[in-house]
Amino acid sequence: MTDVLAFAGVSVRRGGATLVEGIDWEVEEGQRWVVLGPNGAGKTTLLQLAAGRLHPSAGVAGVLGEVLGAVDVFDLRPRIGLASAALAEAIPASETVRDVVVTASWGVVGRWREPYDDLDHARAAGLLEALGAEHLAGRTYGTLSEGERKRVQIARALMTDPELLLLDEPAAGLDLAGREDLVARLGAIAGDVEAPALVLVTHHVEEIPPHFTDVLLLREGRVVAQGPIELALTAENLSATFGLPLSLERSGNRWFARARTAD
Ligand SMILES: Nc1ncnc2c1ncn2[C@@H]1O[C@H](COP(=O)(O)OP(=O)(O)OP(=O)(O)O)[C@@H](O)[C@H]1O
Ligand SMILES: [Mg+2]
Repeated sequence: MTDVLAFAGVSVRRGGATLVEGIDWEVEEGQRWVVLGPNGAGKTTLLQLAAGRLHPSAGVAGVLGEVLGAVDVFDLRPRIGLASAALAEAIPASETVRDVVVTASWGVVGRWREPYDDLDHARAAGLLEALGAEHLAGRTYGTLSEGERKRVQIARALMTDPELLLLDEPAAGLDLAGREDLVARLGAIAGDVEAPALVLVTHHVEEIPPHFTDVLLLREGRVVAQGPIELALTAENLSATFGLPLSLERSGNRWFARARTAD
C-alpha cells in the first residue's frame, strides 16, 4: 500500500526562521489524523506541505506516492482537498454557495467542459446536504455566517473526490452548537470507509471528532509525540506541547483538557 503522506526529515526555513524541523510522518490510507499544537507551532506549514503548496527546504516529502520537487504540483493538487482560512479568503462574496462548491471541480475537468454540468451540480448538492448546508445553496457566500462558511468550504474541498482531505482549524470561530454540529459531521465523514484520508488541524482536543485514529503533537516546529490517539494523546504529551500542566479526560469518544490546578 502506498502511503498517503511519507515525510522523512522534512524542514521548512523562511528568511532565517525555521517553521518546521526534522518531521518524520507517515499517513496511510484510511487513517484520520489530528495535528495539535499552540499558535505558531507549524501546523499550517505542515498542512501546506501535505497540500503540495509548499516545498521542504530539507528532507523528502512524499504526497500520494509522488515526491514534492519531482512532480508537477498542478497534477497533484486536484487529488487533495484543502479547506483553510487563506483559501476561504479567496472566495468571492458575490458567488452563490452552489457555485462555490461546484467550481472546485473545474481544476480537474478543465475549462473546456461546460461548467454547469448536471452531474457536478448533483454532487455539489449531495455534499452540501452531507454538511447540513443544502438550504444555503442559493445564497451568496458573502451573506453566510462563519459556521455556514466553514461547512461550504468543506463541501468544496470534497467536491473533487480527493484522496486526501486537509482541514485547517475547521471549527475556529464557531459557537458551541456550531462546533458540536461540525464535530459530529466530521465524525460521520471520518467513520465512512469510503472517505479519503483525513488530516485535521486544531488547537483544541475538544474539537477532535469521533473516529479519528491518530494524533501528531507539534511544538516550535518539532514533533513532541505522534501515533494512535489512545497511546500518543496523554496529559503528559499535551502538557509538553502547550507548555503548561494540563489534565486530560476522555468521555465516550470525545476529549477534554484544562489547566491542572493544585486543588
Ligand atoms: N514566510 C515566513 N517567514 C518567517 N516566518 C514565518 C513565515 N511563515 C510563517 N512563519 C512563522 O512560522 C511559524 C509557524 O507558522 P504556522 O502558520 O505554520 O503556525 P500554526 O501552527 O499554523 O499557528 P496558528 O495556530 O497560529 O495557525 C510561526 O511562528 C510563523 O510566524
Ligand atoms: Mg495555522
